[in-house]
Amino acid sequence: MSAVKPAPPLDPAVEVARVKEDVAVGNEIVRHKLSSRVIHWVVAATFFLCLFTGMPIWTPVFGWMAHFFGGLSVCRVVHPWIGLAFFASSAVMMVDWHAQMTLDRSQKGWWGPRLLRYLKWELEDENVGKYNEGQKFYFWTVGLGALGVIASGLIMWFPAWFPAIVRQLAFVLHDVTFILFAVAVVFHIYLSTSAEPGTFGSMTRGTVTRKWARLHHPRWYREVTGEDPRRR
Ligand code: HEM
Repeated sequence: MSAVKPAPPLDPAVEVARVKEDVAVGNEIVRHKLSSRVIHWVVAATFFLCLFTGMPIWTPVFGWMAHFFGGLSVCRVVHPWIGLAFFASSAVMMVDWHAQMTLDRSQKGWWGPRLLRYLKWELEDENVGKYNEGQKFYFWTVGLGALGVIASGLIMWFPAWFPAIVRQLAFVLHDVTFILFAVAVVFHIYLSTSAEPGTFGSMTRGTVTRKWARLHHPRWYREVTGEDPRRR
C-alpha cells in the first residue's frame, strides 16, 4: 500500500496573506489579505454576470448573449437578482476599503499634468501611498455607479410603484451608468494587468514584489518596510 503524500508546505508569503496585509515577507510584500481578495472577485464576477445578462435585455443586437444563460426569459429573471448580489458585494467592498481610499492632500493636483506623466511612465512621486489618486477615484466611482444601477434597477423592477417620468429617467440612468461603468472596468483591467506587470498577483496570491512596491507605491513601501525606496 502506498503512503499518502503530505501536502507541500504553503509558501510563507501566501500563508501570511491569508489573514494579514501590509507586511513584508522575504522579497515580497502582502498587499491584499484573502478576505479582501474574495470580496473583490465576488464584485467582479457579479458585475460581469449583470453585464452579460443585461445586454441582451437592453438591445436585440446582443440577443445572442442570452443563449449562454438559457434564453432571454432566464436573463430577465436572473438579472435583477444578480444585480442585488453585485450591490451587496460592492457595499461590503466599500466598507472593507473605504478607510484606505480617502483622498490625500499631498496628492492635490494629481488630476492634471501629473496624471499624463503617470500614464507616460514618467512620474516618480515619492508620496504615492498604498493607492494612487486614480485608484481611489476609481474606487469611489464604483461606489457611485453601484448606487446608480441599484436605484434605477429597483424602479425598473417594480414599475407599478413609480410615476411614468421616474420610470423613464430610471431607464436613462441605468443605461448611462452601466455603459460608463463598463468602459471604466475595461481601463481598470488594463491598468491592473498588462499596463503594470506584477499587479495582478496582488489579487491572486495577495502579494507584490518589493521592486514593484518601490516603483509604484514608494510611500507605502517606506511605511511597510521602514526602508528608503530610493535605496536598492
Ligand atoms: C477580470 C477583471 C478584473 C481584474 C483582472 C481586476 C484586477 C484588480 C487588481 C489586480 C487590483 C489590485 C490593484 C492594486 O493592488 O494596486 C484591483 C483592485 C480593485 N478592483 Fe479590480 N479587477 C477586475 C474587475 C473589477 C471589477 C468588475 C470591479 C468593480 C466593478 C473592480 C473593482 C476594483 C476596485 C474598486 C479596486 C481597488 C482600487 C484599485 O486598485 O484600482 N475590479 N483589481
